[in-house]
Amino acid sequence: MSNRTFTMIKPDATKKNNTGAILQMINAAGFRIVAMKTTKLSAEKAGEFYAVHAARPFYAELVNFMSSGPITAAILEKENAVEDFRKLIGATNPAEAAEGTIRKLYASSIGENAIHGSDSNENAVIEGDFFFSKLEQF
Ligand code: CMP
Repeated sequence: MSNRTFTMIKPDATKKNNTGAILQMINAAGFRIVAMKTTKLSAEKAGEFYAVHAARPFYAELVNFMSSGPITAAILEKENAVEDFRKLIGATNPAEAAEGTIRKLYASSIGENAIHGSDSNENAVIEGDFFFSKLEQF
């Protein structure tokens, strides 16, 4: 499974109608969409997804933001997916993101940063399974 990663296009990008442009960049960079859905997380579900950050000072803000509007979740496939996708999205803080990255183009702050990308192969599987049953992963 090391050729797969998980992503979420966050509520800020959805609200600004940037979903299509972001998906275009993802496809153009060579990622295949294995599974995809647009949904809205409840605060409870957002809290569960980001449970690893529960002790962080920004946790409440993060949960509130991630449940504020629709998101698009997807599992993506490409050789070296986790690392290559993190390069494509850029640094967590858009002020530090490289030119041409998704966050440089579409994120407005460290909290509202347009897109999520898994940080490891292990988390890619956990996060993908959070949204998609095995029957929905092609
Ligand atoms: P993401 O890659 O989805 O994983 C955790 C998220 O916490 C991160 O993106 C940021 O959007 C969010 N976050 C909010 N505030 C901070 C902060 N001060 N430092 C790091 N991450 C933050």
